[in-house]
Amino acid sequence: MSQPLRRAEQKPDFLPYGRQVVEDDDIEAVAAALRGDFLTTGPLVARFEEALARTVHAEHAVVCANGTAALYMAARALGLGTGSKVIVPSITFLATASAPHLAGAEIVFADVDPDTGLMRPRDLEEALARTGRAHALFNVHLNGQCGEAEEIAEIARRHGLKILDDACHAIGTRYDAAGSEHVVGDNAFSDLTVFSFHPVKTVTMGEGGAVTANDPALAAALRRERNHGMTREPSEFVSIEDGFEAEGRANPWYYELVEPGFNWRATDIQCALGLTQLGKLPRFAARRRALAAAYDSLLAPYAPRLRPIGRTMTCRPTWHLYAVLIDFEACGITRAEAMTRLAAEGIGSQVHYYPLHRQHYYASRYGRRQLPGADRYYARVLSLPFFSSIAVSDVARVTSTLARILKL
Ligand SMILES: Cc1ncc(COP(=O)(O)O)c(C=O)c1O
Repeated sequence: MSQPLRRAEQKPDFLPYGRQVVEDDDIEAVAAALRGDFLTTGPLVARFEEALARTVHAEHAVVCANGTAALYMAARALGLGTGSKVIVPSITFLATASAPHLAGAEIVFADVDPDTGLMRPRDLEEALARTGRAHALFNVHLNGQCGEAEEIAEIARRHGLKILDDACHAIGTRYDAAGSEHVVGDNAFSDLTVFSFHPVKTVTMGEGGAVTANDPALAAALRRERNHGMTREPSEFVSIEDGFEAEGRANPWYYELVEPGFNWRATDIQCALGLTQLGKLPRFAARRRALAAAYDSLLAPYAPRLRPIGRTMTCRPTWHLYAVLIDFEACGITRAEAMTRLAAEGIGSQVHYYPLHRQHYYASRYGRRQLPGADRYYARVLSLPFFSSIAVSDVARVTSTLARILKL
């Protein structure tokens, strides 16, 4: 059987599962950045950070090269390293676990709700009971939804865990907790929140990522992690003799290595695009909500064999993906066959995600275990074409083609 086509091989009218929406003002902003004095470490970096912090109601935002770098910087800023254990829900992209693992931590996979793919409070309790002491939770707002933030935070704090929200899917999502409405990224129930601005995300920088924080010390640690693990801040200098001149003024050339790190900086070119894109978030989010509602009503006749993923009542998502659950066995077709037949009709689809606890690397490191919720979610999930510029007529075509392929 032939494989689904790669992006570069697809016809122009092919509907990918996700794609960017770049408009003339985005292109003009990038061109202006290219004509400006700074391609990197310039004023657009701080402007983007201010705009993001304002948008998600955070005190600080630190922008960087991509969401994976943001997760890695966050792991380091939280002090995770050799000897640390980090709990990660099994249904997520590789990077949620790879980043803390590369920082030195071992990963403990938590199960998820089989219908939403989100970690539930009891999944966290079960992972904690299994592992004993852990140091951090890297939770995931899968598809743009968030779970029970308050209950999860309560359990995590009781066990002394730092909390990071991987919100790479969830910029603009609002949630209710502790009697009020919150915005993902405000860190009301976490220490840090991570975003990605990859082209399939709701707003893009080409590649880009960010971490939001409310604690200034964490924000300072993130800025060091972004820039080689060094500081130019005189109050942080340890080598007084080399850092300062006789009158006590900091030497203008001096910078100090706190701990070796990488260069994870974002360019002003990326931030120019990020700024114009962030301005479109309300429009893109509203459009995505309307498109999800269109899919929901078009899919209604095909339940229970084909239906949208479960919805949480606690949030108003900015949907990143539109995912459905399919009973492939009852439909008499494999997922691979369905995806290949969709691709042959110009319709992209993808599986988000192959559970991390089943990845060979982790299964051979930690032993193969059953996480029944994650396994069940994975067995049925499929992401359908979903981006801010897709037409409702295309949504209808995707739905009817899929129903025909599934013989519904
Ligand atoms: C949940 C999640 N975390 C992290 C990442 C990594 O982000 P990036 O691709 O910007 O490195 C992604 C990207 O797809 C993601 O979906």
